[in-house]
Amino acid sequence: MKRFFLFGLILFFYLQVNAQQYQPTWESIDSRPVPQWFEDAKLGIFIHWGVYSVPAWAPADADIGIYAKYAEWYWWRINEDSPAGKLFRDYHNKRYGEDFQYQDFAPMWKTPHFDPVRWADVIKKAGAKYIVLTSKHHEGFTLWPSEQSWNWNSMDIGPHRDLCGELTNAIKEAGLHMGFYYSLYEWYNPLYHENLEKYVDEHMIPQMKDLVLRYQPDIFWTDGEWDYPSEKWKSTEFLAWLYNESPVKDRVAVNDRWGKETRGVHGGYFTTEYNLVHDREGGSEIKHPWEECRGIGTSFGYNQIEDLDNYMTSDALVDLLIEKVAGGGNLLLDIGPTVDGLIPVIQQERLFDIGKWLEVNGDAIYGTRKWEGSVNNNTENVYFTKKGNHLYVLCTEFPKEPLVIKGIKTGGKVSLLGFEGKVKSKKSGNTFIITPPVLTPQTNPSNYAWVFKIENGAQ
Ligand code: GLC
Repeated sequence: MKRFFLFGLILFFYLQVNAQQYQPTWESIDSRPVPQWFEDAKLGIFIHWGVYSVPAWAPADADIGIYAKYAEWYWWRINEDSPAGKLFRDYHNKRYGEDFQYQDFAPMWKTPHFDPVRWADVIKKAGAKYIVLTSKHHEGFTLWPSEQSWNWNSMDIGPHRDLCGELTNAIKEAGLHMGFYYSLYEWYNPLYHENLEKYVDEHMIPQMKDLVLRYQPDIFWTDGEWDYPSEKWKSTEFLAWLYNESPVKDRVAVNDRWGKETRGVHGGYFTTEYNLVHDREGGSEIKHPWEECRGIGTSFGYNQIEDLDNYMTSDALVDLLIEKVAGGGNLLLDIGPTVDGLIPVIQQERLFDIGKWLEVNGDAIYGTRKWEGSVNNNTENVYFTKKGNHLYVLCTEFPKEPLVIKGIKTGGKVSLLGFEGKVKSKKSGNTFIITPPVLTPQTNPSNYAWVFKIENGAQ
């Protein structure tokens, strides 16, 4: 009996300790590795959709820096005393009139064409493995029926739909990972300005937990953290809950935007944005899982005045993906759906082009890691990744000359992905020389970029 009691006591403490594996300190939180699925996934699609998708406007061509071209900042800009603010205000007053309030856009947000299954299909065709949807941007409007944002959510006004829920179901059904973007701060919530602690305890944290419990996302991507240190946002407490107790504790990935001091320092994977925020040599110097995000054009939210010149070409996007993955990162490429729920056809085309390239060359992207030997090979237009012992040489231009690669100890057979014919190569010492085959339009395996695989080249 006594022994039985002792055993029960030990078991109880063991379970307690295990249940509280992570403490609410950065040291403890940072000790949790970024889940492997995230590092293997490489390509995700960011989706910015909100009330700002109604005006869907920013001065795309003005010489005002990238941030002022974000259409999702519309509400802030029309109130801002700055050159960018003037451009937004002039547009707003002319188009809608001075008395037209931003809040009046909400009932105009109708989503007759939003078909989550079709969206999931587009994402899948892009070859992306996860998405991150703005559950709430800085405007505070939630895309799910949050109790805390009464009458400022997509169920009470506008779409009258649970956008987070509908998309979560379709994305999971398609076998992809679901993620949410969530802005910690809210521009015009009076509670945020009057009583931060109350805002955090009674508004923000309950919303964050609600999102996790309702939709069980695989990614929790915070932003809008810059006003306060993480302590004020109670970020480590939330993360300890997420990692110890939440239903997604074993698989959830998070980013690094948890307080004004945390980017590139604490949290899960690090984030860069338009190569600007915490960029270190295009990210490749970051010794930690990381992810670059940007739009196809100059904005995250849909900007209806952007034209082809503002958009990256499919060629440039494939090159960007290669550059980031070779540097050890992921690419979170943003799309901005229209107010009525469509993914603009031009954005779809860009995604499909990336997807078609990945169908042939995905072996050199998914599940790969950065090849440390690349430091000895700073050849223009040539990048490297590795998977197991295999080395991939990714050429963003088809090489006109033989490729000379240094630092290969035991390279074997070489192939060009998607190409049936033989590829000639020779090894002399630690140097490997590949002679690119002659391609015709019939034998060319893909557009935009070409990949040579060197078996056992990364040993
Ligand atoms: C930024 C911006 C925002 C965008 C985002 C994406 O901090 O404020 O509009 O959603 O980050 O990285």
